Amino acid sequence: MNFLALTLFPELFGPFWETGIVGRAVENGIIRGWAIDIRDFAGGRHRVVDDRPYGGGCGMVMQPGPLDKALAEAKSRLPGAAIVLLTPRGRPFSQQMAEVLAGTARDLILICGRYEGIDQRVIDRHVELEISIGDYVLTGGELAAMVVMDAVTRLLPGALGNQASAASDSFSQELLEHAQYTRPSNWQGEEVPQVLLSGHHRQIETWRKSHALATTLLKRPDLLRKRNLDRQEIRLLEDWRLEIERILDAQPLRGLDPSPGGG
Ligand code: ADE
Repeated sequence: MNFLALTLFPELFGPFWETGIVGRAVENGIIRGWAIDIRDFAGGRHRVVDDRPYGGGCGMVMQPGPLDKALAEAKSRLPGAAIVLLTPRGRPFSQQMAEVLAGTARDLILICGRYEGIDQRVIDRHVELEISIGDYVLTGGELAAMVVMDAVTRLLPGALGNQASAASDSFSQELLEHAQYTRPSNWQGEEVPQVLLSGHHRQIETWRKSHALATTLLKRPDLLRKRNLDRQEIRLLEDWRLEIERILDAQPLRGLDPSPGGG
């Protein structure tokens, strides 16, 4: 899969494509990445790419001309690529979107905006998909483009050493991941949960499922509501409920205790 970023800061992408799992995916030929400098397509001695917005207002807007030319170059390098604009006005990025993009394995041309925005006419002419990585405003789309490329790359066959780890990811099953531990088994007096040292694979799986459910319930109950719980999961959540009730029963809420003499 090929990625081509259109940006005013191509130097930002070098370390991204050279490092970690993404770097290894490049080395193994699973992905290729380039960055094109939009300024290379600006005319004039000063290579200006922006201008004031029509109708007034603060900030500068990226002009359509240089970006259009940069896009023509990008399309000639990657014919058939999907053209994506990173913008806070875009569709919220999600694991599901990453899975669709990785599943189709279509090349991506990623437009990274700067300034207050991009002239709408060039967006209307070229852009197929607008993506936002969250409800906050970055100074440009470069980090957002890296987020998208990172999330997509690790889903491509062969990118992770162990394919199973992508399938059990947080969000790929609308469940957050259970806690993880490694050696030493006793660290500064803190023990690793015994069951994980037991070698009982079934018990370990059950512990992990149970803790994934509890973590999701506490941190992201919205994910749990969306999930179709199976019988085992309902039972594991029931077990947590009973555990909580036992704790509360053992600690009557003093001050709220309605019995005579209570409080
Ligand atoms: N550019 C600026 N902010 C952004 C965001 N939240 N998502 C995608 N692109 C952006």
